[in-house]
Amino acid sequence: MLNIGVLVSGGGTNLQALIDAEKRGEIENGKITLVVASRSDAYALERAKNNNIKSEVLLRKNYASTDDYSDALLEVLEENNIDVVVLAGFMTIISSRVPQVYRNRIINIHPALIPSFCGKGYYGLHVHEAALERGVKVSGATVHFVNEVCDGGPIIIQQPVAVMDDDTPETLQKRIMVEAEWKILPKAVSLFCQGKLEVVGNRVIVKE
Ligand code: GAR
Repeated sequence: MLNIGVLVSGGGTNLQALIDAEKRGEIENGKITLVVASRSDAYALERAKNNNIKSEVLLRKNYASTDDYSDALLEVLEENNIDVVVLAGFMTIISSRVPQVYRNRIINIHPALIPSFCGKGYYGLHVHEAALERGVKVSGATVHFVNEVCDGGPIIIQQPVAVMDDDTPETLQKRIMVEAEWKILPKAVSLFCQGKLEVVGNRVIVKE
């Protein structure tokens, strides 16, 4: 059984989707054993508490540099014997030493079809604002491994979602969460925990 550590900064609806999937027995060979929040007011912390999951708060302002923050994060992950790290709306920048230690063991959810609307500055609602501004008819979500390049790691699963004429950033965000993020994130984590993801270069082969 692999120990899953989930990193959060906000509402934690993706954390909730993982918790619900685990309860339904859909995270095969994995258990969420730690939640790390970068904000003390993150509602995700309530979700952890309500489900008896240990949590830690790591505030960026308590560390002199991104490297110091990343070292503290690595220490917490190692102390808790975390095997796989899930970034579920984690909005704090971390150093490349983290993916170096957890090579192909960090999974991120991004609310667009990478390589569209990704990279520096594209997070949360900004992603959906940019998609509507560009006028795309299809957006979606991507689950990928984290490497040294922002949103540049090997892609595990993508799920397209239709954009409606009357969408606002908020309605598009919600539809992408419901129809894509909350489904593909638990699925990817379960595949990882079962040892079914093989990384070949920048591609991920799903072994059935
Ligand atoms: C989600 O839409 C997630 O895809 C996005 O932040 C939201 C967090 O919501 N992540 C990023 O933009 C990362 N670049 P949640 O806290 O309710 O899961």
